[in-house]
Amino acid sequence: MTSRRQLLMAAGAGLLGAPAIRAAKTASGDFPYAEFESRIARRDFRDITKDVLPTPCMIVDFDLFEKNVKTMAAHCKSTGINLRPHVKIHKSVDVARRQIAEGAIGLTCATIAEAELMSGAGIRHVLWTKQPASTNNIVRAVALSKRDPTFLFVVDDPQVVDWVEEAAASRSTRLRVAVSVYAGMTRQGIAAGPPAIELAQKVAASKRMELAGFMAYSGGAAHTKTWEARRRKSADDLAGIRETVDLAHKAGLPVTFVSGGSTGTYNIDRDNGLTELEAGSYVFMDTAYFGIGSKTNDAVYDDFQGALTILTTVDSARHPNQVTIDYGNKALNRPTDQVKNMPWLQVGSQGAEYGTLKWTDAGRSLKLGDRVEIYCTTLDMSTAVYDRYYVARGDRIVDVWPIMGRGGAAQR
Ligand SMILES: Cc1ncc(COP(=O)(O)O)c(C=O)c1O
Repeated sequence: MTSRRQLLMAAGAGLLGAPAIRAAKTASGDFPYAEFESRIARRDFRDITKDVLPTPCMIVDFDLFEKNVKTMAAHCKSTGINLRPHVKIHKSVDVARRQIAEGAIGLTCATIAEAELMSGAGIRHVLWTKQPASTNNIVRAVALSKRDPTFLFVVDDPQVVDWVEEAAASRSTRLRVAVSVYAGMTRQGIAAGPPAIELAQKVAASKRMELAGFMAYSGGAAHTKTWEARRRKSADDLAGIRETVDLAHKAGLPVTFVSGGSTGTYNIDRDNGLTELEAGSYVFMDTAYFGIGSKTNDAVYDDFQGALTILTTVDSARHPNQVTIDYGNKALNRPTDQVKNMPWLQVGSQGAEYGTLKWTDAGRSLKLGDRVEIYCTTLDMSTAVYDRYYVARGDRIVDVWPIMGRGGAAQR
């Protein structure tokens, strides 16, 4: 059997050819697999390299991740916009702590469970961007407000203000509430202008509530192709919140913050009236973002780097110009995924646990046992079906971060 040392020497000498990571079988035969989970639990990452990992699994390139976090932090600092990053794309306390360490003022969450998780981990100023409309969510939002007075959530309907008022009164709790204003996406937000002001006045008048701020999420702008078109879309979508803020000032209402924005519009939103950013994907990036274009490059969005990949193994190679991989539908395989360093490969699916990689170029090949890394299409969907990030420096695993609060009603 080829020893690990021989394999590494061969790789170093360029004898292994294709950029795919070569057969796990020969490289890692000596690894004590029975100890794998106990080593992870003990954070003993000795000898844990990519080639011993079970696939499909998620890999974070630590250096690229760190660069992305710092790039966004530096941008926010230099332009004077606050960052309250969205956690739905990573669902990881480890990632969130690093964002906070680089200056984020809090976190943004999509579900009450995410907010409970992050607040429970000791992170303050967590903003929940949905209004509680079920008894379950109302009771939990009020309970979280009591445990963590820095927690805040949005409303877009006076009915919800009444519901949470009543629940807060019966539990002697004060709430921090922001008004969600329509910004081009019909999924939420009260109409800008007088209706939004009326709702804000209702919140401000409540004995149980503090009007914490406003939110206006222009989701349609996030993936609009070309920076100039994004800038125009964001400006149009946020016209209503700018008008609302003017009216709020005239009405003597406090405007502590205006939250919204995305990875795609991070360097646009401040000029369009936001005081804080809810961007999330920038930490890892996905293929939905790769092609939207940057301020200086219409074709490629390279402000942030692809720091997250899915490692997969070729587990059948019986047909010309294609191989089968263990990255299938259950692992969120998408035809718009891209293979790292191998743009000649097209990703496809063949079922729950089967994917394909196909190519047309002559002279290309992949072999049984090869491993490749794939950029996923939509982070918030993909991260919800994996349970951990293997954090890598080169080929070495240096940390493991659990992905918490993933799927299922208990997590919502
Ligand atoms: C409410 C909200 N804010 C902000 C974002 C921006 O996230 P990203 O930077 O990942 O596009 C999203 C993403 O869908 C969102 O739903």
